[in-house]
Amino acid sequence: MFTDNPAHAEARSVVAPLFTAQSLARLRPFVEQTVDELLAPQREALDVVADLAVPLSSRVICRVIGLPQEVAPRLAVWAPDIAALLVADYLPEVVTRGHSALREVTTAVNQAFAGEVPEDSGLWLLREAQRRGEIAPEDVWATASLLIYAGFETTSTFIGKAVRAALHAGAWDAVREAEPRVSVDELLRFDTSVQQVARFATRPVVVAGKHIAPGDLVLVMLGVANRDPAVFEGPDLLDMDRRIGRHLTFGYGVHYCLGAALARLEAEVALERLAVRWSTMELSGAPTTRSHHGITVLEHLMVSRRTEGERI
Ligand code: HEM
Repeated sequence: MFTDNPAHAEARSVVAPLFTAQSLARLRPFVEQTVDELLAPQREALDVVADLAVPLSSRVICRVIGLPQEVAPRLAVWAPDIAALLVADYLPEVVTRGHSALREVTTAVNQAFAGEVPEDSGLWLLREAQRRGEIAPEDVWATASLLIYAGFETTSTFIGKAVRAALHAGAWDAVREAEPRVSVDELLRFDTSVQQVARFATRPVVVAGKHIAPGDLVLVMLGVANRDPAVFEGPDLLDMDRRIGRHLTFGYGVHYCLGAALARLEAEVALERLAVRWSTMELSGAPTTRSHHGITVLEHLMVSRRTEGERI
């Protein structure tokens, strides 16, 4: 994510096979089984983030990378610490925690490497590339930690935000009735978990009357672009009948999200299963959020079943 071509294209091509249509078709039963397991316990109320989204996306990313499932609960600690390192590395405590998370990722990767690495997993692909002399050992750890950072919290937060948006807008019935691919796409546009990406300008450019010089750091606000009224009619409405042009939730260009199809798969299965098991759900209490170095993280989203005749 932080390198330019040609090094970027080489690194991307090593792990790209994880996200082909074929690989994701093979992964689908695991995603479905995991969602079913997580939703199986009889409950009065469900925390969509802590009971479903976080364990789902952490188990899936462990499976994709080839880390043992026991590692999955650690991801919720590592991912925010690694993410903080990217935005606030001027704070000593952020550096300490971030480096400690990276050390733990390295240890987990080394331990997994020492045993049987599942064929076609991320670690398997990385080990093959290392054997062919295409990548250095530190690229293995860097790529594994990038996949954890890029693939876990982005997806768990999105699933939580998608349910929050649907319930808050009174659109849960419309989401349930729409084709999952269509509802997930509109929810991705409506409230993305990655609000901005950063770029250095390589040439002078004028945007909306502002002069940007080569070398200037530019923050591209993806969430704002997704609500551009020049592109989306009534952009602040959650509309399952919208025929979406192109939203920018997964970025644009050579760094376009490698895991976009995986994120869609997880969200589609989660919403499909919630639509059956929690068909009449409503928010019970305000969502809990935590501010984390400029990013608002959704921590808890409690829902309960609406009782007969209680519909508002
Ligand atoms: C809803 C969930 C997700 C969102 C909103 C999201 C968003 C993004 C965005 C905006 C970028 C572009 C960053 C840039 O241009 O600087 C990106 C890159 C990336 N994403 Fe995702 N992502 C999600 C899920 C995933 C998943 C599940 C994975 C899989 C492990 C993943 C892996 C990656 C990787 C490896 C890159 C870097 C690609 C490159 O630099 O070539 N993402 N993501």
